[in-house]
Amino acid sequence: MPDEVRLQVPERILLGPGPSMVHPRVRHAMSQPVLGHLDPRFLEIMSEIQEHLRYVFQTQNKMTIPVSGTGSAAMECALCNFIEPGDSVVICVNGYFGTRMCDMAARYGATVRRLDKAWGDIFSFEEIEAELQKGPTKLVAIVHAETSTGALQPIEGLADIVHRYGALLVVDCVTSLGGVPVKVDEWDIDVAYSGTQKCLGAPPGLGPITVSERAIEVLRNRKTPVANWYLDLSSIEKYWGNTRTYHHTAPISMNYALYEALQMVREEGLEARFARHRRHAEMLWNGLEEMDLALHVPLSHRLPMLTTVRIPEGVTDMEVRSRLIKEYNIEIAGGFGELAGKIWRIGLMGYSSRAENVTLLLNALKEILGR
Ligand SMILES: Cc1ncc(COP(=O)(O)O)c(C=O)c1O
Repeated sequence: MPDEVRLQVPERILLGPGPSMVHPRVRHAMSQPVLGHLDPRFLEIMSEIQEHLRYVFQTQNKMTIPVSGTGSAAMECALCNFIEPGDSVVICVNGYFGTRMCDMAARYGATVRRLDKAWGDIFSFEEIEAELQKGPTKLVAIVHAETSTGALQPIEGLADIVHRYGALLVVDCVTSLGGVPVKVDEWDIDVAYSGTQKCLGAPPGLGPITVSERAIEVLRNRKTPVANWYLDLSSIEKYWGNTRTYHHTAPISMNYALYEALQMVREEGLEARFARHRRHAEMLWNGLEEMDLALHVPLSHRLPMLTTVRIPEGVTDMEVRSRLIKEYNIEIAGGFGELAGKIWRIGLMGYSSRAENVTLLLNALKEILGR
């Protein structure tokens, strides 16, 4: 059989909401030989990944692991372990991913109290507290960086309120982790989860999650088994914890990728990485505004890693995006839900967040819109 790889894939400039581009170092790490999931070298790699994840989540939480599966698996894991049938939960919805959490929580038997805001707005802590005053609440779930709208929800200070009402705070950090500060311990978040394909700079496939002692206590005191076998943290922790008991076969190559991507985050340093995401976002915002394009989210709560820009009157969304791909090899995304056909979503995440990518995109858009 010939040695050369038959699969041919174009090298795209990925400036959508994820996946972001993957650095050659990470791609190279993925092509290392597959080890057994209990191989002594792989067990070392697992421990190092956990240490690296504690660094990016800024936590000492012992239960910090990459769930096998994408960000949605981590979302599901963050909900199914703490919800029992009949529990009342508050879910903040100001974009698409809040609605996904409502759907999941209801499937696990929760009574969902859904708090709604316009897509692009953020919640005030008073609004959340007013809902908590209405009755006992098991958990409050909220999205830190809403990828469907481009809005950054402030989290610092929210846990104090949530805990005063005896609830857990669950935060979706899929798009924020590695691009803006996520201070799990300082902000006293109980469950935070993410995905590998955004600001962490690995391919999609793992969902990092970190769980506080307070949340572990809730898990230990459940009256009913976790309704999802695969995502039951009390079983998964036996593999990622001290006993190293088989649960499922870990996706070995994906863990190599995550290892290398996190290693690169550490080499760059969190502060420098946040500054890089901010610098390139500002470069993009300035360029778009110079072209008289309007940004959907006000500067005060705009995400640096995902910019939403209003599609100008008379311009066809799909025509511009398909030209970007065909003529310039650049991927950006459209809006969905309430924002379908109204916005473009431009991601500058992880290895995609580079000055040359901003310049390329701005020039391409100028040429296309100028025509
Ligand atoms: C905020 C947010 N939460 C959850 C998800 C789901 O992650 P995945 O698509 O990796 O399953 C995404 C994906 O874009 C997201 O942006």
